[in-house]
Amino acid sequence: MANTILVGAQWGDEGKGKIIDVLTGEADVVVRTQGGNNAGHTVFIGKQKYVLHLIPSGILRKGKVCVIGNGVVIDPIGLVDEINGLEKLGIKVDDSLFISETAHLVLPYHRELDEQREILKGKNKIGTTKRGIGPAYGDKAARTGLRMIDLIKPKAFEEKLKAKIKENNEILKAFGAKPLSFAKVHEAYRRAGEKLAPFVANTVIYLHTANRRGKDILFEGAQGTFLDIDHGTYPFVTSSNTTAGGACTGSGIPPHRMDRVVGVMKAYTTRVGEGPLPTENSEIADMLHNMGREFGATTGRARRCGWFDAVATRHATMVNGIDELAVTNVDGLDTLDRIRVCVAYRVGKQQFDYVPNDIDLLGRCEPVYIDFVGWKTPTTNARKWKDLPPRARTYLEALAEVTGARLSIVSVGPSREQTIFV
Ligand code: GDP
Ligand code: IMO
Ligand code: MG
Repeated sequence: MANTILVGAQWGDEGKGKIIDVLTGEADVVVRTQGGNNAGHTVFIGKQKYVLHLIPSGILRKGKVCVIGNGVVIDPIGLVDEINGLEKLGIKVDDSLFISETAHLVLPYHRELDEQREILKGKNKIGTTKRGIGPAYGDKAARTGLRMIDLIKPKAFEEKLKAKIKENNEILKAFGAKPLSFAKVHEAYRRAGEKLAPFVANTVIYLHTANRRGKDILFEGAQGTFLDIDHGTYPFVTSSNTTAGGACTGSGIPPHRMDRVVGVMKAYTTRVGEGPLPTENSEIADMLHNMGREFGATTGRARRCGWFDAVATRHATMVNGIDELAVTNVDGLDTLDRIRVCVAYRVGKQQFDYVPNDIDLLGRCEPVYIDFVGWKTPTTNARKWKDLPPRARTYLEALAEVTGARLSIVSVGPSREQTIFV
């Protein structure tokens, strides 16, 4: 399979977990390289549902090695809960997980500050997952963060944590929030550190050694292109590079070792949290929510929904260097008479075929649509390209054409089997 970067080409929740699970069949190692437990990646194996937050979705296949890379921010308590949850479901992580010693920690003051800053922003809030992601990456950039390598050295960790809690309690006080108890936090994190210590490793050396031995590495992106800290709809973004470059910096594997980039996108658009969404549409949102679909895997919030936005996916192809497309949730459109695709944005007399950086301007963009006739046939049982209704094939070919990459995978349901290789 060679080394493959998989990224979300929209605003997150594109179905990356499902596609990672499918592609892991051919990979040896699966790596998360950015984000934290703000991510929620859903995989169905048979009727069993798994939601992964920090651990790569590759963990569900026996014999695969999973790595949490240096670019990820790790909430140690969340990670221990996730490991325990998987073990309860019969998935052993023992020999198959490595955690980077230089990955930064998410600590309780990060979560508390995330919450307090959102409250202070009022109607201008970002709508974060409140997992402390922004403040944790903030500490990393300010060079004041604690890392996994600190967590597993009990004496030094105690000292460093004490200083951090003292400092952050001052900030929390200014917000009018309750200060944290060092003793309680320390005890909880000391225990988590003990549980995680056996997994902690120099993952850069591990990955390079594996790669030299001919192992195929799959890089599991979290969030999506328009949540990227540099290329997204700032400030309504997350705090990491969710685009393809993040896979290099977040793992230590250089760009020329990467062989292909797969972009995952839904056959329509969703977004959870605030910020512009040019093709947002209540008709398609109501339809999907009434089907019980499009509720967040991490926070349970109803996702905002809209028509497919080709201006956005074309932009995503450009900044990620997407070679191949995986289009998911095609079955979500099975009942519609008419399906719309946005091919440009318009503001007054001005027309855009790219995503403008001015967030206020983007908020005023009106989509220019082309319409497709719906196929009005269930697609969930299709297993080959020719099983799809001709109108669905026409629609998918058009999405690839306007997005500017090769259609490679089509997903017609949440399970592994509901996958078509084009
Ligand atoms: P991720 O964050 O990109 O991994 O995506 P999420 O797991 O947050 O959200 C995608 C949702 O769509 C999950 O509930 C998946 O089980 C589901 N899903 C993925 N592909 C398909 C598909 O082709 N059809 C249907 N019906 N559901 C899908
Ligand atoms: P996966 O990997 C969808 C969104 C939040 C919010 C913004 C900032 O499952 O696709 P943060 O907590 O990161 O500071 O929130 O980013 N967000 C996601 N939306 N999928 C995700 O991950 C997301 N992770 C963060 O809703 O708008
Ligand atoms: Mg998700």
